Amino acid sequence: MKPSMSLLIKNGRIITADADYVADIFIEGETVYTIGKNLPMNADTEIDATGKFVFPGGIDPHVHLDMPFMGTFSSDNYETGTRAALFGGTTMVIDFILQKQGNSLRAALEEWQGRSNGNCVGDYSFHMAVTDFNDNTKKEIKDFIEKEGITSFKTFMAYKGALMIDDRQMIGLMEEVKQHGGLINVHATNGDMIDYLIAKHRAEGKLSPLYHYLSQPEVTEAEAAERFVDMSNYTGCPGYIVHLTCEGALNAVRNATKRNQKTFVETCIQYLILDASLYEKDFDGAKWVMSPPLREKKDQATLWAGINQGLVQVVATDHCPFMWEQKKMGEKDFSKIPNGHPAIENRMELLFSEGVVKNRITLNKYVEVACTNPAKIFGMFPRKGTIAIGSDADIIIFDPHEKHTLSAKTHHMNVDYSGYEGWEMTGKVKTVLLRGQVAIDNGKCLLQKGYGKFIKRNKVSQVI
Ligand code: URP
Ligand code: ZN
Ligand code: ZN
Repeated sequence: MKPSMSLLIKNGRIITADADYVADIFIEGETVYTIGKNLPMNADTEIDATGKFVFPGGIDPHVHLDMPFMGTFSSDNYETGTRAALFGGTTMVIDFILQKQGNSLRAALEEWQGRSNGNCVGDYSFHMAVTDFNDNTKKEIKDFIEKEGITSFKTFMAYKGALMIDDRQMIGLMEEVKQHGGLINVHATNGDMIDYLIAKHRAEGKLSPLYHYLSQPEVTEAEAAERFVDMSNYTGCPGYIVHLTCEGALNAVRNATKRNQKTFVETCIQYLILDASLYEKDFDGAKWVMSPPLREKKDQATLWAGINQGLVQVVATDHCPFMWEQKKMGEKDFSKIPNGHPAIENRMELLFSEGVVKNRITLNKYVEVACTNPAKIFGMFPRKGTIAIGSDADIIIFDPHEKHTLSAKTHHMNVDYSGYEGWEMTGKVKTVLLRGQVAIDNGKCLLQKGYGKFIKRNKVSQVI
């Protein structure tokens, strides 16, 4: 298809977080111009979507592209990662900038811009990870929110010596971020307990990937989630827990609702559908070495229920891929396996196949957690996250019946294995539009790197 100024999607079943109807969508330039039945317009390009679902473009608010981590770099860069995301129906991602301890936030922003500028195929934004909160960092927060459009600040309660901040820094950061209308994201696990358990297992010669899992028991996440929720309540700063995996941690959030507190919760696709039995496969278990680790079947049930109870608002990926050679850095010691797993391309189809097709969530809930809530929470709605007049024309045309099989042989992520090899799927992304341009069609990407735009975000809302 040639680049188009106007585009008409005919007769698709349009599904948003709160609607489900058959209509045409007329797109002019980058945005949706009008929506209606049997629209009389002529367009440069017309797509017949009869029998297809039409979803807003997916937003994955938790990815790590070209990220320096554990002595190496995640293997998808901004080009390969955002392109793979588009193949899977994700039109926008939010990546993480990591401050280097002792350096400024600005220096980290410039470093990340150096790797991302001009290289993205899909749209993107950044969270700013504050790893060293001090008087200088404090002065930088306002500009990030008001000038850079980076309104969320990531904190780590683990990875001591590299990324972790202590509670004193957390409280200080929360007070500053609250004052300027931002939000704190948190990797909520108890870093000291985990470090103790890692050291203990290593000293006992317990070095396989299973001990990665056994070094991060549920209590390490539940304790940190509760502490974070308490600090967020005390300071009044909006909080968002990333990659929440388990019943104990979700109960900390649930309990806080009794004092009328709202904490946003993200889980990731892998925690909904994979479990810790995968760590019993000797070194093959390294494919799923991520933090927090996969949990138990009862935790999956808690997370699906949490989505339907409105306690879990977002399903992301924490996409942080490493080639098998990189994973082998930890062949003799689980603590040296780079943490992370690839899923940026698979999230939308897996959530449909495992969630909607298996009747665990409704179609509207699917759109809410994969597209709309990330846009709302992170200050991009209604430009992103929905299909409405005036919104960016980020759209997926989806065949709900097509069957296919996931494999590293056919995926587009720059990683030589799949955590879902051989999974049988129902439902396939057929065509993807990004700001009015056909990005994916017939299994081909039609956009070049550099098309993806950095999206400046607004201040956050606590009400979604
Ligand atoms: O294992 C993970 N999650 N790797 C990426 C870094 C993080 O903690 O999110
Ligand atoms: Zn994390
Ligand atoms: Zn992460």
